[in-house]
Amino acid sequence: MSKLLLGQIVAFGAGPEEITHFARGALAFDDKGKIAWRGDAAHIPAAFTQAPRDDHGSSLLLAGFIDAHIHFPQYRMLAAAATDLLDWLSRYTFPEEARYSDTIYATHAAEIFLSRLHANGTTSALAFCSSHKTCAEALFAAAQKRNMALITGKTLMDRNAIPAVQDEVEQGALDTLDLHARFHGKARLRHAVTPRFAITSTEAQLRMAGEVLQLCSGALMQTHLSESAGEIAWIKQLFPNDQDYTAVYERFGLVTDRSLFAHGIHLSDREISALREAGATVVHCPTSNNFLGSGLMKIRRPIAHGLGTDVGGGTSYSMLQTLGETYKVQMLNGTKMKAAELFYLATRGNAERLKIDADTGCLDVGKFADVVVLDPEATPVLAARHALSRSVEDILFALALLGDDRAVKATYVTGQKVHGN
Ligand code: GUN
Ligand code: ZN
Repeated sequence: MSKLLLGQIVAFGAGPEEITHFARGALAFDDKGKIAWRGDAAHIPAAFTQAPRDDHGSSLLLAGFIDAHIHFPQYRMLAAAATDLLDWLSRYTFPEEARYSDTIYATHAAEIFLSRLHANGTTSALAFCSSHKTCAEALFAAAQKRNMALITGKTLMDRNAIPAVQDEVEQGALDTLDLHARFHGKARLRHAVTPRFAITSTEAQLRMAGEVLQLCSGALMQTHLSESAGEIAWIKQLFPNDQDYTAVYERFGLVTDRSLFAHGIHLSDREISALREAGATVVHCPTSNNFLGSGLMKIRRPIAHGLGTDVGGGTSYSMLQTLGETYKVQMLNGTKMKAAELFYLATRGNAERLKIDADTGCLDVGKFADVVVLDPEATPVLAARHALSRSVEDILFALALLGDDRAVKATYVTGQKVHGN
């Protein structure tokens, strides 16, 4: 059955400067959950005027947020205090991820995790799982039930961790290929080959990951790169013959236009060139970088960037808070970003980086109706600030700097309401 959503539409075109705005707009969804019409609420075509409607008044209708880097099995371990990344991983993260060998635990956790995303207006994500196949199966199944465009894979890690979260080369390859065959392209699901980072994979496993990536047609590759000083020093010890961190991944065929590298804070000019030439993406995760003291990533580099929360290294599920923190990190780097650019990166930009832009990431006719409804007056502080807003840029800026899950009035995935009253 078709459906109507009414509210204030803010829709991006091919870039952050191209904004279509309807102060009182309407979106019509068809029975497949795709956007069939978009326009002024005064001109709804006759075919949709009788459709059931959700009227969100002057709240904003935007494309749902896309989180380009998040860890499912870290969903409950935000704000675990550590001295740095490596301390945080060994002290809290690996023991927590060990729980996900249990299918019942992982299945229950997947429901909570996806509900958290939807409560924050996030409709798609590129997510890490634990090294257990059960973990990826649970997340894929839960995302399919909700008709989400979700991308994940089992983490490959065969050294430098506790045995309960380590795998081994051959079984890792079999599990990865099996997940690809069963889930990639099923409904809106996609698969990502997922070596955790070069510290926790032997050369044999990294070689296998590169070979498996070739076999997994259409799959993404996700890993971590150049996040902290301690990590980079350890990489130098483990791979003394590679000229830098990126070169390790290059040697195993993991730097491609399907590759997404979380963090990429401390990259040399050579590494930036290599990533750019390959068409790879660096995913900026500012709440995590600030929390773990990893460093201030510079976004004005000649390289494609995505944005992610990196929960649980990140301290918020909210892409609004992630936008606010992105803004502040770039201010510390001497760069002032516009709100339109921030929102674009979190929606259409991330959809392009995740190669799901044919289906989602904007409010164009023909895309799946993945929509977030944001109330610019959700809290007393937002309401007082909103009274001063004079432009769409101003409204978006206040939401990015002051908003969080309280501003998310409703979330729709494939045209179905998955959050909100
Ligand atoms: N590097 C390797 N694993 C991780 C992880 O789980 N979180 C972060 N932030 N960095 C990592
Ligand atoms: Zn991460």
